[in-house]
Amino acid sequence: MRIDIITVLPELLKSPFEASILKRAIEANLVEVHFHNLRDYTTDKHKSVDDYQFGGGAGMVMLVEPIDKCISDLKAERHYDEVIYMTPDGATLNQGIANTLSLKENIIILCGHYKGVDQRVRDMFVTKEISIGDYVLSGGELGAAVLCDSIIRLIPGVLGNETSALTDSFQDNLLAPPIYTRPRSYKGHDVPEILFTGNFPKIEKWREDQAYERTKARRPDLLED
Ligand code: ADE
Repeated sequence: MRIDIITVLPELLKSPFEASILKRAIEANLVEVHFHNLRDYTTDKHKSVDDYQFGGGAGMVMLVEPIDKCISDLKAERHYDEVIYMTPDGATLNQGIANTLSLKENIIILCGHYKGVDQRVRDMFVTKEISIGDYVLSGGELGAAVLCDSIIRLIPGVLGNETSALTDSFQDNLLAPPIYTRPRSYKGHDVPEILFTGNFPKIEKWREDQAYERTKARRPDLLED
């Protein structure tokens, strides 16, 4: 998989890809991540990426031209399955969206800034709009990092134990059950006895029940689907 990220702040975005699972996935060539500084696609001497809104109003709008140039240059090199725009009015990211995107070959992620992009960017180039939650960030970069993490960990071979992504919260629309490790007893809080029985079908059943109870208590909306 190849991910191309278009941003005015590449420095803000790089560090999540330089540690832990994302770093290992890149080193193992399971994913390529490329950053494109939008200012490199400007033609004026101030390297402008934004301008005032037509019709008046507070806040700057990102220009269509440099974004067009960057996306067109990328598309001249290869086919892209999706051009994703990070925006608070997009579809809220969930495990289903992450699963679907993890199967794509090449994707572009465009990070918005200021008030956002000129509507014509969305009309002409964007195939999917994604939000990471109902709150407004200063820009799309942190959202893009969250989106990439949720996608990359699902690519086969990225997680050491192939099954571990399958037991994450939200797979099967259930939250994950409680988990324990040593010590068996800590300040009066004991690990449930069932986990020491060695009866794996029974343990699995217990985990399923716990996942269901936790989901019912915390996220009943997930059980409605
Ligand atoms: N840009 C600003 N706010 C955002 C959000 N909630 N999700 C994705 N991109 C954003």
